[in-house]
Amino acid sequence: MYKVYENKQISPDSYLMEIEAPLSVKKALPGQFVIVMAKEDSERIPLTIYDYNSKDGILKVIYQVIGASTEELTYVKKELFSVAGPLGNANEICANPDKFMNKRICYVAGGVGIAPVYPQVKFLHRRGLKIDVIYGSRQANMLLIRDKIERVCNKIYYATDDGSFGTHGFVTDILEKNIHHYDIVVAIGPIPMMKAVAEVTKKYNKKCIVSMNPLMVDGSGMCGACRCEIEGKPKFACVDGPEFDGHKVNFDLAMKRMKIYKEEEAIKWEEMKKRLAKEKK
Ligand SMILES: Cc1cc2nc3c(=O)[nH]c(=O)nc-3n(C[C@H](O)[C@H](O)[C@H](O)COP(=O)(O)OP(=O)(O)OC[C@H]3O[C@@H](n4cnc5c(N)ncnc54)[C@H](O)[C@@H]3O)c2cc1C
Ligand code: FES
Repeated sequence: MYKVYENKQISPDSYLMEIEAPLSVKKALPGQFVIVMAKEDSERIPLTIYDYNSKDGILKVIYQVIGASTEELTYVKKELFSVAGPLGNANEICANPDKFMNKRICYVAGGVGIAPVYPQVKFLHRRGLKIDVIYGSRQANMLLIRDKIERVCNKIYYATDDGSFGTHGFVTDILEKNIHHYDIVVAIGPIPMMKAVAEVTKKYNKKCIVSMNPLMVDGSGMCGACRCEIEGKPKFACVDGPEFDGHKVNFDLAMKRMKIYKEEEAIKWEEMKKRLAKEKK
């Protein structure tokens, strides 16, 4: 069992959870993730390590409630059944920051994608790199951890779909206007957003790194659930990724695979809501 210190709502659909997981924290690097389970019979949920403190062994994740398992997570009060990780590879730039010292880097985050972006920008900021961030969401109250990201980035641009904060429009509108400032773009967020960023960077011949977030089961390269097609070849996001060259990813296939269990997931979510409501009584 893993002690939970905090599990609080931070936006209409997102939560911040703080977990005591000293072994995971000890080896964590920006870009890696953990797989958590609320209870013994719960589904396994991959979540990026959003922040960690090696002194007290606290690991933080930010999760958006989109289905049965993330709904169940909101009811966790004192402990989680399991936390496995760190899993996956560290971000390419964070793994070797000196190599990128003279590069102009921009991170593009969409929605809860700011959770994986934050530890990377913070890590690079501490090593002297100046990183710009473009952060977009549907509306102003869905922009997360603004104070934290603003503290570690060089410059930040905001975009909202409804124009309630920052530029009225998409992150790619801002990126395209400013693309000449950058050598490398890292995009983390919904697959359609990463696809759009990959298209813009390809047009201007800029390097693009994306972080894939497919369905996952074991997280150890055994089950094949997280298969992505990279340059026509199968790769597993859990062991070969989660980051890949954005110009080589088959995003259309990734979006198709994400919808495989859509109907079953919707039924399960309704069942979970009823079960949790009953347990609460
Ligand atoms: C490496 C990795 C890191 C991740 N990090 C985070 C994170 O830090 N914070 C966070 O909120 N989420 C993160 N995710 C996504 C998170 O794991 C899923 O949102 C969660 O597993 C959904 O479970 P569910 O049962 O609540 O929803 P489900 O019932 O499984 O899904 C509900 C709906 O969302 C879609 N969906 C399912 N999985 C995903 C997904 N991975 N991405 C987008 N849509 C999905 C389904 O197609 C379905 O329509 C990460 C995923 C991966 C692979
Ligand atoms: S989650 Fe099973 S192979 Fe990646």
